Parts: sequence; C-alpha cells; structure tokens
Amino acid sequence: VIEDVRVRKILDSRGNPTVEVDIITWNGFGRAAAPSGASTGSREVVSFPEGGVDQVISEVEDLISSELIGMAAEDIEDIDEVLREIDGTDNMSAIGGNTSVAVSMAAAKAAAMSFGMPLYSFLGGNFVSEMPYPLGNMMNGGAHAGPNAPDIQEFLVVPIGAKDVEEAVFANVAVHKKLKELLSKKDPDFTGGKGDEGGWIPNITNTQALEIQAQACEETRDELGILIRPGLDMASSEFWDSEKEKYVYSQDNIERDVGEQVEYVKDLIETYNLFYVEDPFDENDFEGFRELTSKVGNKCRICGDDLFVTNSRLLKKGIDEKAANAIIIKPNQIGSLTETYATVKLAKENNVMPVVSHRSGETCDETIAHLAVAFGAPMIKTGAIGGERIAKLNELIRIEAELSNPKMARLF
Ligand code: PGA
Ligand code: ZN
Repeated sequence: VIEDVRVRKILDSRGNPTVEVDIITWNGFGRAAAPSGASTGSREVVSFPEGGVDQVISEVEDLISSELIGMAAEDIEDIDEVLREIDGTDNMSAIGGNTSVAVSMAAAKAAAMSFGMPLYSFLGGNFVSEMPYPLGNMMNGGAHAGPNAPDIQEFLVVPIGAKDVEEAVFANVAVHKKLKELLSKKDPDFTGGKGDEGGWIPNITNTQALEIQAQACEETRDELGILIRPGLDMASSEFWDSEKEKYVYSQDNIERDVGEQVEYVKDLIETYNLFYVEDPFDENDFEGFRELTSKVGNKCRICGDDLFVTNSRLLKKGIDEKAANAIIIKPNQIGSLTETYATVKLAKENNVMPVVSHRSGETCDETIAHLAVAFGAPMIKTGAIGGERIAKLNELIRIEAELSNPKMARLF
C-alpha cells in the first residue's frame, strides 16, 4: 500500500529540469525519473504543465499524493487511470506526461520490490528469457548537434552478430572509438565534440558521414569478428519544409520531394546495407512510409518514432496502412506504463518490432532496460557512451547475468 509520494526537481543530461518521483509503500520503494526530447513529435503528450517542473511541485504533487496514498502500488492500471482523471485533459497538459510516467514507473518499481522481484520479471513474468540488441548512437546531427553537422540526426549501429549483450555493447563502443580515429584523420578541425546522445558531431555532409560510418562498421567487424550493421534515425520532420513540400538537406545543398525521398532512402538502404531506418519521412507522411516499407520492408526495419509517438491509435493506423515494420517505444511520449504496454502489445501482435528507446535529454534512471526485457523488445536504443546512456547498458549487463542462459532476441 502506498504511504507516500515525493516529487522533486532534478537535472537531466542537457542541464534542464525534470521530475523524479519516489513512491514509498510499507515494504517497498520505487524511484523513477522522466526524460525529455529535443526533436519531439507534435502528437506526444505534453511533458509538463505551463509552469514547468516548479508547478508540478507546488500544485500537482499534493493532488497526486492525496489520491494515491492508500492505493496498492501493484495496481498500475488503476494508478494510471487515477492519474488520467486528476489530469482531466486528453494530452496530459494539466499534470504533465512526464509527471504521470514517472509516477507510473516508480509505482511499478515499488511494487516489484515489495514482491522481492526485479522490475523486468514483475512486469514481464518469470519466463522472460530474451535480451534486446543495443542500438548504439555513433554520430549526431540535426536537432542533437550544431549547425555544421549532418542533417540526419543519428548514425546508429546494430551489432547483429553479437552473442550476448555484453559483447554487443562493447562492439558498439569499439565502432564509436574507431569513428573518432577516422573522423580525426578526415577532418583536421574535428574537435572531438559530442552531441546530446553521446555520438560524435562531425563537420561533414550526410554522404560523407554515411561513408565513414560504413567504413567504421567494416573495420570493427574485421577486428572483432562480429557482424555490425549501420542504421539511421533521420528524424525527417526536423528538415521537412511544409511550404516547399521538400526535405531540405542543408549540408548537401539538396532538396527532395516525397518521391525523391523514397528513392533516396531506398538507395541508402541498398548501398550501405542499412538494417534500420527511423523516421525517414515527416510525422504526417504515412504515405511516404508506406511506399518505402513496401519496397524494402523485407530487408530493413522501417521504424516510426514521431510518426507513432507510442500511441496505439496512431500505430493502428500505421498497421492498417502498412506504414512501418518497427515502432519506437518511449513511455513519456504517451505518459503511462499502461498505455505504453498497450502499444507494445498491439505492435507485437502485428509483427511490428517494438524498439524501446531513451530520449536525448536523459537521467541515470535505468527503468527502460527493464522495460525492454519485460516487453520482449528485440532492440533497445540507448546510445553507446555517456553516464546517462551507460546507466541503461550496464543494467542490461546485470540483467543478463541474473537470468539463466538468456538468448538474444530474434531480429529477423
Ligand atoms: P528526442 O530524439 O529524444 O530528442 O525526441 C530522439 C529520437 O528522435 O529518437
Ligand atoms: Zn527518433
């Protein structure tokens, strides 16, 4: 039974304020913090009420604690329902989706502790047996970097040949280190600067970045004997110009309409053997997604992030229209564990791969590592280095050690 709910303002990795929630039960304790995005989807729930984290603490904390005290922490669905009622809006703008998701996750952690279980088995049952592949972030552009970086937001890698999580996370950092070498050779002005998610910020074009990423994957594969394939989060909503109706690649000095974008991305997938492409089109362009997925969906995961914002209604539309074969799962896009799970379940029932993900503004909260295992998500996207990123990766290594003989998830 919940005895106390405490909300505090803490730092995120960009130095912005976010909320951390403690839930105290008579025999359990749970703590969770909410992350925040920079390239947010327009249909996400609102992170905080207008007065920000300070308003959450001055007004919302008491509302929430007076309703939640006395409830059972394991009744996550009831707790999420109460939070929705307290909020009363359809986009969580009164209490903030970040507030509600932190409460929801803290309650689950408190319940897990009172049952003497790790969170992944409390949520996923005692039979969880598969580990997700970490999708590592190697280079940053777009909204996560400075003005001379590529327009494409994230150059990623998936170590699909790794035999376990430990090998996988070290394969990812090996590519990251390799890239530093290659970038320093290519660009004498390279400063070693990193973006919001810990990838290098190179002063090069999109095409040059793709080339150098491919080279780093190959050289690392040859050195380690582990197959590593490249991927991208294009975050295309950020460079879609809705007046021109063009994707504007400022670093390459090229503009592409939707048809040209379909051909361009298809070409990238074939040229660089990309395993994964996230948000290759604007968040409203289900049609562009559908066309690309129909052309390359058998060899590449086409993933919707801003397109779906972890919302089951939007995912349903995507399934009906065959828009994508993967979906990013960010609990704070939808504001509760219950709704996050509903979206994961719908995805899995329809062969859409759920990819549990961090945000660009993170804390050292490790909850998403447990969610990825509990949900049986084949991939988790949580960077490669940086304290707030390795918090999740190291937790995955611990979970792997705790499970007896876990297998890696199936990617195909
Ligand atoms: P965000 O970006 O957390 O800044 O929204 C991450 C992503 O687009 O995947
Ligand atoms: Zn994204």
